[in-house]
Amino acid sequence: MRAADISDQLTDVLVTEEEILSKLDELALQVESDYDGKELLLVGVLKGAIMVMADFSRRLNRHVMIDWMAVSSYGAGTKSSGVVQIRKDLDTDLHGKHVLIVEDIIDSGLTLSWLLDNFASRGAESIEILALLRKPDAMKVQIDCRYVGFDIPNDFVVGYGLDYADEYRNLRDVAVLAPHVYA
Ligand code: PRP
Repeated sequence: MRAADISDQLTDVLVTEEEILSKLDELALQVESDYDGKELLLVGVLKGAIMVMADFSRRLNRHVMIDWMAVSSYGAGTKSSGVVQIRKDLDTDLHGKHVLIVEDIIDSGLTLSWLLDNFASRGAESIEILALLRKPDAMKVQIDCRYVGFDIPNDFVVGYGLDYADEYRNLRDVAVLAPHVYA
């Protein structure tokens, strides 16, 4: 669905599907050039990254391997406590691999901070991050993200993989959820 189909539930459309796909074209060219001659493993972080992984990986005119991780934060009652539990681990041995983590969003940065440490301890040759969205005002830890799609304000956003109560992931655009939906 498009933002126009559910406009009563949204306030602003931050990034349209067309803008996302055009940005992924750019990022794919950069990644092709940066990893020329190297094997590349894309790691998607479930569930939010499914859309960006599908669209980004198909824009790469080269071979890649794709694997997935599912993690969840727990402790202290908040989503981004920084303590991460692995719900589904990688199937791939990272030893000597060039890893590109593919994420839908960097919010506090705590999930990625943990993942970077975890992957480094598994002997990856290199680890970089591609994030479609980043919220600079929400970041609690500095994350070096090599490929960023869009910096967005610290609002409650949904769409293109991002959910509210497991809905809205199939919205093609990224939009701000209207407060009356979750208040
Ligand atoms: C989202 C997103 C990132 C994480 C970012 O996942 O996909 O993985 O939060 O937040 P952080 O920077 O504050 O750590 P979420 O935990 O909502 O799970 P989901 O992808 O399954 O919806």
